[in-house]
Amino acid sequence: MSGDRGRFITLEGIEGVGKTTNRDYIQRLLEQTGRTCIVTREPGGTPLGEALREMLLEHRHEGMSSDAELLLMFAARAEHLHKVIVPALEAGNNVLCDRFTEATYAYQGGGRGINDKKISELENWVQGELRPDLTIILDAPVETGRKRAGQRSAPDRIEKEKNDFFERVRHTYLELASHYPDRIAVIDAGVDLEKVQDQIVHVMTEHGILA
Ligand code: TMP
Repeated sequence: MSGDRGRFITLEGIEGVGKTTNRDYIQRLLEQTGRTCIVTREPGGTPLGEALREMLLEHRHEGMSSDAELLLMFAARAEHLHKVIVPALEAGNNVLCDRFTEATYAYQGGGRGINDKKISELENWVQGELRPDLTIILDAPVETGRKRAGQRSAPDRIEKEKNDFFERVRHTYLELASHYPDRIAVIDAGVDLEKVQDQIVHVMTEHGILA
């Protein structure tokens, strides 16, 4: 990849932590760097990926095996990397992705109990050496997130899991951040929005994304 490639930022967290509000804020910050910012999401981001997203999240596929779920996530990701993320970075754009492989470690690894070696094999296969330059995890207690999310819409196939599933998801996110502090930052999302956004500016500056 050329030396002038854009930066790849991913946003993570359990439901109800304010991912959508803060995604718009991060996009504005990234645009201030003078580069175009492509905002995208996983699973999704391409016509095939969005079709796979529907299959993954709709209740029609209740009881899908964990391995099928894992492989569909990576099928969507392979298409997304090939068609959107890598070309955008190579063209010098920043890419902000709402969820990426850390979600797979958290949901399919922590939540479903798939061994993380299987996930890292797929990660290495599909991504090669590409990893996000910075992953921002918005963190709040499961109860807080679920209360906020519950006020919004009917839960999809994954959101309807029980609290202990989301406790494992949250725990895995925090573990990932402690293993890779140079590229994964945890932000306390249980405080006022202004304070959340101050923390976002701080970590993006600290990680050399913002000047
Ligand atoms: P979203 O609605 O917050 O974009 O997320 C879609 C759902 O997909 C969410 O419940 C998390 C889940 N998910 C996984 O389980 N594994 C993954 O790798 C990704 C990207 C998302």
